Amino acid sequence: MQVTLRIQRFDPERDEKPHFEEYQADVEPTDRLLDALNYVKWYVDGSLAYRRSCAHGICGSDAMRVNGRNRLACKVLVRDLGNPITVAPMLSFQLIKDLVVDMEPFFAKYRALKPYLIADDPPPEKERLQSPVDRERYEDTTKCILCACCTTSCPPFWANGDFYGPAAIVNAHRFIFDSRDHGADERLATLNERNGIWRCRTVFNCTEACPRGIKVTEAMEDVKRALMLRNI
Ligand code: SF4
Ligand code: FES
Repeated sequence: MQVTLRIQRFDPERDEKPHFEEYQADVEPTDRLLDALNYVKWYVDGSLAYRRSCAHGICGSDAMRVNGRNRLACKVLVRDLGNPITVAPMLSFQLIKDLVVDMEPFFAKYRALKPYLIADDPPPEKERLQSPVDRERYEDTTKCILCACCTTSCPPFWANGDFYGPAAIVNAHRFIFDSRDHGADERLATLNERNGIWRCRTVFNCTEACPRGIKVTEAMEDVKRALMLRNI
C-alpha cells in the first residue's frame, strides 16, 4: 500500500521555523511507522532526521507525535494510523532538527531524583534480599524505558518546563517503594518542592501515552500518598 506521511521538518541552518512536508511511502499494512520513516529516509530524502535504535520498543528513542498523540514509531502499525499520517516531534523540548529534540533537560530531571539504590547499611555477604511481595510493590515502574512520551504529553509540564514531570517521578517511585532503599525521604523532600509532585493534576495523559502500559498516574498518586503519610 501507499501511505502519505506529513512530516514536520526543520533545519536550523536553513529554516526560520518548522513546516510540514508530504512524502509517499510504499509499505505493507503490517509495517510499523518506523518502517515508513525509514522508507522516506532511505529512498526519498536522506536529510530527514529522527532517532531510532532497537526498532522493538525497548530503547525508547523514537518517541514522536503521531496524529497528535505521543507514540513510539516502532510500536504502531501504519494500517492503524489512517492516511495521511501526521508526524511531529514531541512537545515542550527544544527542537534540534526535524523530529529530533534536545533530551538533556529530561535526563537531568531523571538524575536529580536519584534513580538508583541508596543503601547505607553494610552490604551483605551475597545480596540484599527482598520478599516477592515487597518486589511487587514497584514492579510496574521498573518497566520504564525513558522515552518521554508521558512527560511531553503532560499539560502541567507544557505550562512549566521546570516540573520534574511523570517520567522522572516514575523512576523515583521505582526506588522510593523498594524495601532495600534508604533514600525515600530525600527524594520525597525534593518532590515536595515547588516543581515537584504537586504540579500533577491527574490529567491521565501520561498513562494513555505510555508505550509500556505503566500506570503512570497511579504511580504519581502513590508518591503523593507517601508524602502525606510521612508528612515531610
Ligand atoms: Fe516512557 Fe512510560 Fe517511562 Fe513515561 S513512564 S518515560 S511513557 S516508558
Ligand atoms: Fe527503540 Fe523504538 S527504536 S523503542
